[in-house]
Amino acid sequence: MKSPARRVTTLDLAAAKRDGRPITMVTAYDWPTGRLVDAAGVDCVLVGDSVAMVVAGRSSTIPATLEQMIYHGEIVARAASRALVVVDLPFPLQHLGVRTAVESCARILKETGCQAVKLEGTAGQADVIAGIAAAGIPVMGHVGLRPQAVHQLGGYRMQRDVEHLMADARAAADAGACAVVLECIPREIARQITAAIAAPTIGIGAGPDCDGQVLVLHDLVGLSLDHVPKFVRAYADTKTAIADGLARWRADVEARLFPGQSETLG
Ligand code: KIV
Repeated sequence: MKSPARRVTTLDLAAAKRDGRPITMVTAYDWPTGRLVDAAGVDCVLVGDSVAMVVAGRSSTIPATLEQMIYHGEIVARAASRALVVVDLPFPLQHLGVRTAVESCARILKETGCQAVKLEGTAGQADVIAGIAAAGIPVMGHVGLRPQAVHQLGGYRMQRDVEHLMADARAAADAGACAVVLECIPREIARQITAAIAAPTIGIGAGPDCDGQVLVLHDLVGLSLDHVPKFVRAYADTKTAIADGLARWRADVEARLFPGQSETLG
């Protein structure tokens, strides 16, 4: 969508769906990535619990804690002056009842300065989304492949049960979600859900017919060191750029070419 000069709001996301303007969302986890994603004009910056994988090198998002999400969320919320900043609710706080979920989301909002939270769930978490929304906290749903449920789902695989997917997305939207992330579902099902629900859909591995797209920054810029999902297209080769820079600096130091005389005092 054509982002406004002021901070993007959830009303802008709703208007983008109405007007057919694609929404962009990318993850960020720290000061430089928050600044860069914001400066790129991306609509929403997601402080995803993917931080546990791409930054901390864990094998799933399950280890991410509330304290870690608040730590990273606070940095990114300060770094991004224009994008809507969304912070993930980490496992298992959306499964411990409405009160715990509202308390956790309120901590995220108060202690990070972000503008919205996101939680993974099925129709079973509709009451939790409704409770968070009723507390005045903008909340995004996340259905389809739910990485926090990777062990129950049998791996990071495409989700194809159209009835359940439709019910989960509808429940999130009807409960007051300001947007619903659709992860790893067939294009046709994503298209049907997008047409059926009032909230904007933001797809990842769900085809081009969603109201918007989200990607993990490290995948997008070629900085992911481990598994990269098949649907990802890297738009930069940051890994090679860093490796090249390091190799050239090391060679210069070993050849006593760095620092030069004029560079010693900074
Ligand atoms: O944690 C994350 O980065 C996410 C995106 C993959 C949508 O939830």
